[in-house]
Amino acid sequence: MELRVQQGNIADAEVDLIVVNLFAGVTAPGGATGAVDRALNGEISQLIATGDFTGEAETTALLYARGRLTAPRVLVVGLGSSGQFGRAQIRRAAAVGAQAAAKLKDVNTIATIVHGAGIAGHDADAAAQQVALGTLLASYRPKLYRREDASKGLTSCTVVEFSEGKLADVERGVARGVAIGRAVYTARDLVNEPPNVLTPLEMAARAQAMASDVGLESTVLDEAAMEDAGMGILLAVSVGSANPAQFIILEHAPAGHDGEAPLVFVGKGITFDTGGISLKRVGGMWQMKGDMGGAAAVIGALEAVARLNLPRRVIGVAPCVENMPDGKAFRPGDIVTGMTGKTAEIISTDAEGRLILADALAYTAKFNPVAAVDLATLTGAVGTALGHHVRAGLFSNDNALQQALMAAGDRSGERLWPLPMDEEYEKPIRSDMAEVKNSAGREGGLSSSAKFIQHFTEGYPWAHLDIANMVLADSRINAETPKGATGYGVRLLVELAERYTAGPPS
Ligand code: BES
Ligand code: MN
Ligand code: ZN
Repeated sequence: MELRVQQGNIADAEVDLIVVNLFAGVTAPGGATGAVDRALNGEISQLIATGDFTGEAETTALLYARGRLTAPRVLVVGLGSSGQFGRAQIRRAAAVGAQAAAKLKDVNTIATIVHGAGIAGHDADAAAQQVALGTLLASYRPKLYRREDASKGLTSCTVVEFSEGKLADVERGVARGVAIGRAVYTARDLVNEPPNVLTPLEMAARAQAMASDVGLESTVLDEAAMEDAGMGILLAVSVGSANPAQFIILEHAPAGHDGEAPLVFVGKGITFDTGGISLKRVGGMWQMKGDMGGAAAVIGALEAVARLNLPRRVIGVAPCVENMPDGKAFRPGDIVTGMTGKTAEIISTDAEGRLILADALAYTAKFNPVAAVDLATLTGAVGTALGHHVRAGLFSNDNALQQALMAAGDRSGERLWPLPMDEEYEKPIRSDMAEVKNSAGREGGLSSSAKFIQHFTEGYPWAHLDIANMVLADSRINAETPKGATGYGVRLLVELAERYTAGPPS
């Protein structure tokens, strides 16, 4: 899907379908919708008068131009109430329009006006960004492993702006929306890939290819380098796998920001989680191909940060490991030593995410970060606590970082909810023999998982996002969020990085 920007009148767009819009409660459409309505002899007004189309959000009406416009079809998208029309509503309207258009048999090319840039008074730039992003989010198609790839979709969307004065803003906004949308595609593609294809080595190869495309610095540590760095806790998870672990580091260092304390994103990259010797049950185990969703979000976020060339140093860290049972595998009862020298007793080899994060976050201290945020599909319990595909769990030892993340979540539409980290949650992970143990049992397991990670995060503001309830969807969630990989986290991290361009929050 290609996004273009064109100056002119949408009535003249040479495409299969044009998209206009309508707020709920409007009886006489104005602007571009009004012009199209007049060209169609008042057919849109008639839909409104009969009550067949109300402009309610997430509804559409399809009309046929029969020679009265250049395009053969018109789709009117409902914008909902003008009183609550923000960025999320713009993005959703674009997504609903693109999705409805893609369902039509002979529609490959569409043109749309910039929702919200007219009477709703949004900046053309910000509105165009959400239109481009919503269009891309809705148009995602996963790669299929079939001899015949039947997947069709829209090939292009032209964003039409009438006012010449706004054109540059619309172009800038669309470019930003495309940069973020493509990065979400990167994350979705990684999560959707089957685990026999997406091994740690393949993750590293793809991350490095992306890095050279967009101009990120990249480094990959192999197991020998991780051993030299002392990452004994991380490597314990990997010993049972025939696929060697890879520790990916991506850096965006824009000119003039070389020495700056970086913002660091760390993503759990378990390419497949069998549970190891503490083997998972059969039902739904295939979904553990998505256990690298944190790493995918970090890789996608760094891609967007580079494409946007944000004026801020940002580093992405993605420890990639496969968790398998084997004669060489680590076992419950083992005690392992990580980079900081701290020891961990293994209670469950299925609590492996916190183990790879322990060494990844210890390594992160080397960068002297202004803040570090880890994203991990860490516990089934976060879905029990917060449900699925609404909000991810947020834990932090720093109030300013927590507030910045909450705000970035609300603004990006990838929302979070704070969960507690009281000292009491530490008690269930006290070990008799080692400094800490990796599983607390059922009681308070969600907060204790964050307490475990906290042991390895000394010296910088840190937040942990448990995204296990957000990464893979059983069915389509909404026009922007398809079945399968959601790409959750990319937009959130980009929004956070943008906030940090103005310096750390206080
Ligand atoms: N990768 C899983 C968590 C998970 C569950 C992700 C469901 C996505 C969907 C994680 O490694 C895990 O196995 N967690 C255990 C922790 C327990 C052994 C302490 C869990 O949540 O049951
Ligand atoms: Mn596990
Ligand atoms: Zn896992």
